Amino acid sequence: MTPADLIPAARVQRGSPGHFVLDEATVLDAGPGTAATARWLRGALGAATGLPLDPGTGDGARGRAVRLRIDTGVTDELGPEGYRLRVDTEAVTLRGGGPAGVFWGAQTLRQLLGPEAFRRAPVTADRRWALPGTLIEDSPRFGWRGLMLDVARHFLPKDDVLRYLDLLAAHKLNVLHLHLTDDQGWRIEIKRYPGLTETGAWRPRTKYGHRASPLWEEKPHGGYYTQDDIREIVAYAARLHITVVPEIDIPGHSQAAIAAYPELGNTDVIDTSALSVWDNWGITENVLAPTDNVLRFYEAVFDEVLDLFPSTYVHVGGDECLKDQWRRSPTAQTRIKELGLADEDALQSWFIRHFDSWLTERGRRLIGWDEILQGGLAPGAAVSSWRGYAGGITAAQAGHDVVMCPEQQVYLDHRQHGGADEPVPIGFVRTLEDVYRFEPVPPRLTDDQARHVLGTQANVWTEVMENRARVDYQAFPRLVALAEVAWSSLPDSAERDFADFERRMSVHYGTLDALGVDYRPSGGPLPWQRRPGVLGRPIEGTPPNV
Ligand code: ACM
Repeated sequence: MTPADLIPAARVQRGSPGHFVLDEATVLDAGPGTAATARWLRGALGAATGLPLDPGTGDGARGRAVRLRIDTGVTDELGPEGYRLRVDTEAVTLRGGGPAGVFWGAQTLRQLLGPEAFRRAPVTADRRWALPGTLIEDSPRFGWRGLMLDVARHFLPKDDVLRYLDLLAAHKLNVLHLHLTDDQGWRIEIKRYPGLTETGAWRPRTKYGHRASPLWEEKPHGGYYTQDDIREIVAYAARLHITVVPEIDIPGHSQAAIAAYPELGNTDVIDTSALSVWDNWGITENVLAPTDNVLRFYEAVFDEVLDLFPSTYVHVGGDECLKDQWRRSPTAQTRIKELGLADEDALQSWFIRHFDSWLTERGRRLIGWDEILQGGLAPGAAVSSWRGYAGGITAAQAGHDVVMCPEQQVYLDHRQHGGADEPVPIGFVRTLEDVYRFEPVPPRLTDDQARHVLGTQANVWTEVMENRARVDYQAFPRLVALAEVAWSSLPDSAERDFADFERRMSVHYGTLDALGVDYRPSGGPLPWQRRPGVLGRPIEGTPPNV
């Protein structure tokens, strides 16, 4: 493994003669502010190599040491997430612009040791562990480099989420957006409203195959994270310099909550007490009622969410809120008149604005899917632009922050190959190369407007992914391409060297193997992945949706 093989590619990397050999005598010397990364590195490399990497004797450590330092010179040049890594035969010196920079540099250091450095125990006796001589200077293009995991459609147990955090960190991704609530399940314990998980976390059966398929798996599905689980996830993420952004989706995508607390729905339109957690996919018209009681209910929910998640950004969803019930609801129509609003879109905007002010008063920032632009964007809101670039462009031009995640490019639930043996029956084809050529900043933005693009994230919706292997298969290897797009300063889309990325991927597949990732190999699904029931419920008889 050489510095030229790194993924994501480093900003500047030069080879230099010689190697630094790690052995029993190598010390890991942590300067002020770097103890946490030293612990992480000692744990990760200690497991893979069996070497102790004992602490040095502080600044007195001489000779064959790996030194971690925070360096304000690096901060000035490369920012707090930047780092400079120098490897020569006598020493490894990793200088970060801040604790995060040291941590990302440590990720590079591990990658330079080769795929075996990602294993949990040594597999080769007497292996020589050596780092190639190099000078690397690196820093991320974007501050928001993320993955959204939909843990609502299919619950992903806590251990799987923790494992995903490790996978994100290994690729220098720093945001995990957790889609915690939807029509088909509520996945976070809220002490004030236990019904949200007692009732809302479970659905009686699950539709499988293509959206139009007549097939249901007739067994309950569900699960949720306790508040302690969430605290653990957030704390584990923080150690990896990852922010967990919670999403509580309102006012649409709320049927699981309404099934638990029927008074949240439009009771003057339908009998909401007859609703259950939804057992189908798509968009339901059962949305929250625009009443003060509903606002108070969700304020109490968000109160607990804020206690658990330190993230500045809190996601309120806002997508795909059908307005049919509001159009028929005397309560909603009275509200529209009382507030002097133009229509139901403006009523949704009123709903979102309420939580924008509410979050702002508590020192947080609201972020929502680009439908929150309909009826006027709340003053402090940031936008996740998913229906293409348009919402993000409008928002950035109006001075709002944006995370670019257009469905057409970075929705990893879409199939990655058109082949008949591709096991996931959803959406159009988006290949590894398509994701690699994704450009988060639309050329038509001015420099000032472009600064509002915080970054990008891939979104993994899990209607057809009922377990970790399915999520892995959809996310990888495309998430690796997204990581490079988010971190590295790549040329314009058409000029990107995909052949070089593929060359580096040929090494990186070994890393994914060591990490136990069930990725899609470049030649197509592995035989075991094709087997129905192993990667996905059977799909026979369901039309491919390409
Ligand atoms: C979305 O895909 N509904 C945000």
